[in-house]
Amino acid sequence: MLQKLEDESIDLIYNDILYNTGKKYDDFIDNLGSISEAVQWYSPRLFEMKRVLKPTGLLYIHCDCNLSHYIKIALDKIFGEANFRNEIIWWYNSAPRKKKDFGKRHDTIFRYSKSDNYYFNENSQYIRQEYSKTAPRGYEKEKYYDSRGKIMDDVWRINILGQNDKTERVGYSTQKPKELLYKIIDSSCPANGIVADFFCGSGTTCVVAKELGRQYIGCDINEKAVKITVDRLKEVETYGKTDSNS
Ligand SMILES: C[S@@+](CC[C@H](N)C(=O)[O-])C[C@H]1O[C@@H](n2cnc3c(N)ncnc32)[C@H](O)[C@@H]1O
Repeated sequence: MLQKLEDESIDLIYNDILYNTGKKYDDFIDNLGSISEAVQWYSPRLFEMKRVLKPTGLLYIHCDCNLSHYIKIALDKIFGEANFRNEIIWWYNSAPRKKKDFGKRHDTIFRYSKSDNYYFNENSQYIRQEYSKTAPRGYEKEKYYDSRGKIMDDVWRINILGQNDKTERVGYSTQKPKELLYKIIDSSCPANGIVADFFCGSGTTCVVAKELGRQYIGCDINEKAVKITVDRLKEVETYGKTDSNS
């Protein structure tokens, strides 16, 4: 699918990739072999993603500590170290625990551009962090750039979707909360721009892109994922944006 896309045609790519945990989910098996096999598998795909991204475009790669350090090195090589923009930490509210270890409570999202001239919508309503009176001393002196409040830092506290969540869950094991995608898409894709997710799962990226009036491309190797995505997109057609975070 990536190979069929034209050069420099996409504004924003967000990929919530295989993390290589070795886990067998209900919907797919998260296993690409050894770390070096996984990186070898991703590298040609990351090259293609760079090719299809517009010069003003941004790439977000969502992974976790199983692969993040190795993927960062591959991304530095492919996009150039100077085009590394952020390592976003998604800090969530549920932690798988082992008796003798600390709970694992975050994923990592790398953000890369193709040049210094990348799109960023600083007026997005989804990325403002309000000043808090309880902020640590010194924090209030930080440069805000804008009277409406500071643009968010790189640690994002967003609740994970519980398995029994009734607001968003559509029956796909690794479904991500829409709140994460509102921030990414609204800040990093221009109005009417094109968002692509090549590992779209239940289609969260496409759904949010549609809700926010962006064009979208999604694909997944799993037919169940494609069906769920199509059904969710039909719902957006019928009901429009379906959460209170507007
Ligand atoms: C972590 S999940 C994505 C979940 C998604 N962000 C959501 O909100 O539902 C990764 C997805 O990659 C898909 N996948 C695995 N190998 C793939 C491949 N070669 N090409 C496209 N998708 C693939 C899996 O089927 C799975 O749905």
